[in-house]
Amino acid sequence: MSAIAIRQVGPCFAGEVEGLDLGEPPTPELAAAIHAGMDRYAVLVFREQKIDDRQQLAFTRSLGEIEHAIGTSLRAPADYRLPTTFADVSNLDKDNTPFARDDRRRLFAIGNRLWHSDSSFKVVPAKYSILHAISIPSKGGDTQFADMRAAYDALDEETKELIQDMVCEHSQMFSRQQIGFIEFTDEERERFRPVRQRMVRTHPATGRKSLYLSSHAGGIVGWPMPEARGFLRDLIEHATQREFIYTHKWRLGDLVMWDNRQTMHRARPFPADEPRDMRRTTLAGDGPTAAQASAQAA
Ligand SMILES: [Fe+2]
Repeated sequence: MSAIAIRQVGPCFAGEVEGLDLGEPPTPELAAAIHAGMDRYAVLVFREQKIDDRQQLAFTRSLGEIEHAIGTSLRAPADYRLPTTFADVSNLDKDNTPFARDDRRRLFAIGNRLWHSDSSFKVVPAKYSILHAISIPSKGGDTQFADMRAAYDALDEETKELIQDMVCEHSQMFSRQQIGFIEFTDEERERFRPVRQRMVRTHPATGRKSLYLSSHAGGIVGWPMPEARGFLRDLIEHATQREFIYTHKWRLGDLVMWDNRQTMHRARPFPADEPRDMRRTTLAGDGPTAAQASAQAA
């Protein structure tokens, strides 16, 4: 008997955890039950949690090691609204005012509306992301999740064989190119230089295989670029069919946790002048998924 009750809310994955208050850090038994739930459902929803940043951090730390958000956005350190234990995925500046419509930091963040896996552009990519809704817009702003295990299972055998040892190159510059954001400084080009990731990942606890796709993927090692881009586009189209998708409609206080190794997600558009204050803590992954072309810092 599990220590928590989970009701499936997506077509083939995603569970809503019932009757749990995250205000107190979980006991070791409860943390183990949450990890087991993540292994099975890949996305867990905890509705209407009245917790502050300190409690979100304590909850996150009870599940593993935190990945710090340093140098991953176009916010300058002096303009950070939140400490680096949080990834600020809001549309707000440090005075809590929505960015102007043409603000470069806002336009860069629109890349999050493409299907992606968090931190796939890092040598050691993220394990879980934990997102808490502090304020939500009057309409739009849903987050959608796609089950990359089901997407892998649905591939034909020839494709499974083709991608088994495939390695892709990921960078935030590749995802931004797709939305026409192409101007980067030399410093940003260096900071966002591509890293390598396996295309097929095997879950360490369940042994299930999944597609490790992300809009940050912009090349396949050993493939000509246009052919690689076309193949990646086809795979993302396959993996984001309706039967693999759960759409989360946010309520204030909702906390949603997803496994970046087994899912992709995207944010949906919302009115530019309305605050959407979402605070993400992130659990670090275990290690690189592929050998790197040259020595790179994580
Ligand atoms: Fe994300």
